Amino acid sequence: MTYNIGLLGLGTVGTGTAEILLNPDGRSPLLRDIRIHRVGVRALNKPRTVDFEPGVLTTNLDAIVADPEIDIIVELIGGVERARELILAAIAHGKHIVTANKAVIARHGDEIFSAAQTAGVYVLLEAAVGGGIPIIQPLKQSLGGNRIERVTGIINGTTNYILTQMQDEGAAFDDVLAEAQALGYAEADPTADVDGFDAADKISILASLAFGGRVRYEDIDRQGIRNISPADITYAQQLGFTIKLLAIAQWSTAQNSLHLRVGPTLVTNHHPLASVNGVFNAILIDADPLGQVMFYGPGAGKGATASAVTADLLNITALLQSEKLEDGLHPLLTCTHTDYCPITPTEAVETRFYARFLCGDRPGVIGHLGTCFGDHNVSLESIVQIGYHQDQAEVVVVTHDVREGDFHAALDAIHGFEEIDDIHIASVFRVL
Ligand code: NDP
Ligand code: HSE
Repeated sequence: MTYNIGLLGLGTVGTGTAEILLNPDGRSPLLRDIRIHRVGVRALNKPRTVDFEPGVLTTNLDAIVADPEIDIIVELIGGVERARELILAAIAHGKHIVTANKAVIARHGDEIFSAAQTAGVYVLLEAAVGGGIPIIQPLKQSLGGNRIERVTGIINGTTNYILTQMQDEGAAFDDVLAEAQALGYAEADPTADVDGFDAADKISILASLAFGGRVRYEDIDRQGIRNISPADITYAQQLGFTIKLLAIAQWSTAQNSLHLRVGPTLVTNHHPLASVNGVFNAILIDADPLGQVMFYGPGAGKGATASAVTADLLNITALLQSEKLEDGLHPLLTCTHTDYCPITPTEAVETRFYARFLCGDRPGVIGHLGTCFGDHNVSLESIVQIGYHQDQAEVVVVTHDVREGDFHAALDAIHGFEEIDDIHIASVFRVL
C-alpha cells in the first residue's frame, strides 16, 4: 500500500523532509510506502537541492490540496493566512494534515481541529514545537497518566542561539541574528522570534495539550529579548544566573486556572535549563506522579525539523495501514522484526580509554609504555605521571579513539614487560 503526499513548501523543512523520504534506507520500513506525489512552491525557477520527476513541482497549491490521488498534505510554507486557507481546503477534501506551522495552529487551531473532526481526518504537528524533539506525542500519549503541573520551555532556537552567542562571545545582537537567519533557524520575519511571538505560539500549543483545553493566544503575557543588554548578561552571570527566554504554562490549583508567559528569565546556573545552549531547545515538565522530566534536542534546522515531520507521516501511514490490514494491528505498536541485528564484536569497536598504571619510579617507564601502545596502533592523547601511591609511581594514559582489540593487546604486552617487571594495571575505563 502506497500513500501519496502533497508537500506544500520546499524550503528549509520541506527540503529536509523530501531528503528523508527519497532516501529511506536504514529508516522505518513504513517510509517506503510514502510517495511524494506533488510539491508546491512559490517560484519554479529557484535552484533546488532535491530533484523530482518533471511535473511534480508546481506553483498551483490549490490543485495539490484538491488532488484526489493525494492522501496526506504536508504544510511547510509557513505564514498564517495562506497556510490556513490551504489546510482547511485540504481537510475539506478529506486529506490528513501534517504541519510544522505553529503560527497557524496557535491562531486558528480551533477552526482547523473542528473542521478535521467533522471531516474525520488527522492534523498532526510534532514539528511545530521543539523542532526535532518529540514532545507533542509524549504529551498526548506517554504522559497521559499524569496531572501536568507546569511546562517550562526554551522553545525558540533563534533567541536561545542569540543569547548564548551574546553570553559566550560577547557578540552584538544584530550580528548574531543575521547568523541565525543564514543558518535557517530564524523565521522569515525575525520579529516572530525576537519578540517572543514564536515562543508564545508554541507554549499555547503545549499548554493546550498539557492542560486539556484551548488557549487564547492573546492571554499569553509576552516579552521578547530586544531589551536584554550585554550589561544584564554580565551582571546575571556575576550573580550566578543565566538569562534565557522561557515560555511557561503553570497550573494554579488554588486558583483553578492557568497562567501563561513568555519572557527573559534569570535561571540559576545549576538549573537544568541553564545549560541548554545555542539552537537547542528543552522542555521541562512537572507532572504528578512522574515528577520532573526534560525533553532536550535541536529545536530548529532542516534535518531536525524534518525528522519530526516524518514522525507524523509515519503515524498517519501506520494508522491507514492498520485500517486496511486483515489483522488490524497498528504497525508502530506491534513488533514486526524477524531478524536479529548484526552485532559488532567488542574488540572491533573504536573508543577512547583511560588507564592508570602503578610501577617502580625509574627512568624509561613512560617511554616503554608509549612505545608499546604505539607498536599496537594505539594513539595516545596524553600520558602523565600523576604522583605516587604506596611508594609506586602512578602513570595515567588517555588514548584517542582506538580499536578495543588493539588496546587490550597493548595491555597484554605491558603485563609481560621484561624491562619493568613490577608494572601493575590499576584501572581501565572507557572515555566517551
Ligand atoms: P522556508 O521559508 O525555508 O520555505 C518556505 C517554502 O514554502 C518555500 O519552498 C516557498 O517556496 C514555499 N512557499 C511559501 N509561501 C508560499 C506560497 N504562498 N505559495 C507557494 N509556496 C510558498 O520556510 P521553513 O522551511 O523554514 O519553514 C516552514 C515551516 O516550518 C514554517 O511554518 C516554520 O515556522 C516551520 N518550522 C521551521 C523550522 C526551521 O528550522 N526552519 C523549525 C520548526 C518549524 P519557494 O521555495 O519557491 O520560495
Ligand atoms: N524560528 C524557530 C526557532 C524555528 O528559532 O525556534 C523553529 O520553530
